[in-house]
Amino acid sequence: MDVVLRRGDLAARPAGVVALGIFEGERRLSGAAAAVDRASGGLIAALLKSEDFRGRWLEAALLHPKTGRARRILVLGMGKAAAFTPHRARQLAAVAARRARDLGARTLATVAHGAGRGGLEPGRAAQSVAEGAVLGHWRFTAYRSDPGPVALQRVEVVEHDATLARRLEPEVARGARWAEATCLARDLASTPGQDLVPEGLAERAREVGRTIGAKVEVLGVPQMERLGMGALLAVGRGSIHPPRFVVLDYDAERGATPARASRTAPAKRARAGAPAAAKRPTVVLIGKGITFDTGGISLKPRENMHKMKYDMSGAAAVLGALSALPTLALDCRVIGLLASAENMPGGRAFKPGDVVRAMNGTTIEITNTDAEGRLVLADALCYARSFEPVAVVDLATLTGAISIALGNLAAGLYSDDDALAAALTAAGERAGERLWRMPAWDEFGNDLRSDTADLVNSSGQREGGANVAAVFLKRFARGLPWAHLDIASTAWAPADRPHEARGPTGFGTRLLLEWLSGRTDPAPPGAQASPAARA
Ligand code: BES
Ligand code: MN
Ligand code: ZN
Repeated sequence: MDVVLRRGDLAARPAGVVALGIFEGERRLSGAAAAVDRASGGLIAALLKSEDFRGRWLEAALLHPKTGRARRILVLGMGKAAAFTPHRARQLAAVAARRARDLGARTLATVAHGAGRGGLEPGRAAQSVAEGAVLGHWRFTAYRSDPGPVALQRVEVVEHDATLARRLEPEVARGARWAEATCLARDLASTPGQDLVPEGLAERAREVGRTIGAKVEVLGVPQMERLGMGALLAVGRGSIHPPRFVVLDYDAERGATPARASRTAPAKRARAGAPAAAKRPTVVLIGKGITFDTGGISLKPRENMHKMKYDMSGAAAVLGALSALPTLALDCRVIGLLASAENMPGGRAFKPGDVVRAMNGTTIEITNTDAEGRLVLADALCYARSFEPVAVVDLATLTGAISIALGNLAAGLYSDDDALAAALTAAGERAGERLWRMPAWDEFGNDLRSDTADLVNSSGQREGGANVAAVFLKRFARGLPWAHLDIASTAWAPADRPHEARGPTGFGTRLLLEWLSGRTDPAPPGAQASPAARA
């Protein structure tokens, strides 16, 4: 599916579906809605007059005009204008794309919802609409005999004003790319464990590396043994599919040129062009990549175990984000680390009571083989240190406890670095991927004391389980500017949502891209400050 910005008149687009948004209480049509209304002989005005449609959030009406170029007009409620956000624009576009596809349309024409009366910064609105269309249209059909309705060929975001249209074009392109990156993460997390083992994940990383111009190094068992990655190796030992540690190294200076000049400040761009001799700051992204988590010898209960194919969602989000790095004008080097293993019981599997040694020499007594995520991340954090990074962010479906704490509407954010935590939280708001700060107090680590080794991998207590896990990681992140995102709560949507089908969500991909894009300035020139903050 192509998502494009079209300059022109929405009423003139020969689309299978033209989708329009109407605010609650909106009486007088303006802009594109008025034009489409005129072309259809007043159908939309008549709908509003009938009071069958009030513009309530996600209310929908389908009209079949006898005149004009559109085959169908989909009128969607935008809710109260004051409550409209970029995330609502994203969701609205998602609903429109899915509905258009299910109606059998080949093209959807719509607008950058909220850029007018909604008061959103137009670029933000355009990007959100492009994202939403791709996210809402996504489905995972690889294993179905009947894949269902044919995919849309094209989504057009139509803008009448020529100057604005030129400005929105790259925003639409970026929104589409970022959402496709999210869909890559969703596809990977949806793939059954039988078909995505650590080496398969590594192969996908090599593909991504080739397309974006990143160096990719895949460490196998002998290399990991040489490095002393005893924790990751232990987790992978029970499986016939050996573990992999993937290192992606992306430096825009060296690799691909950015697809576009972004809103990056001129000063920043000048820095990006500085001599390569000056060492560029390095950001490390770490993803938990357990391609299937049975729990190992501490086997999980049978209920819902099938979902554990998504236990590589952290790695998928990191890979997804990397796949879209060429859309950014980066002034740093980005390293992606995927710590991948299959956690299986078996004759060679690691056992409760075993003591493993992580890459930094720390010894860990295994008290629960199902607390494997923190083990693979421990070695990844040790490895990350060698880059002397300015920031390290790990993403992991680490604990069931995070869902007990937060429900499914936010991921847990752990960091002792307030600035990093604030930047990630703001990026999450912009992406429509919420983070909620959780405590990483050292005292949680009291439960991790071992009689035999330096620490145990599981306290055996349920209370505060996500916090204890984070503090375990903190032992390996000491001194690093580090944040940990426990995404077990958000990486799987329990039910269909406008922009997320039930199942893997790709959570974190766009959050990382927002964060890296460095658009942390309150607003780009000419934009209003509030909509971004409201996102
Ligand atoms: N992958 C799981 C976390 C998880 C559990 C994600 C349920 C989504 C739903 C992780 O490896 C795990 O098993 N964590 C344990 C930790 C415990 C043994 C200390 C958990 O959360 O139960
Ligand atoms: Mn586990
Ligand atoms: Zn796990």
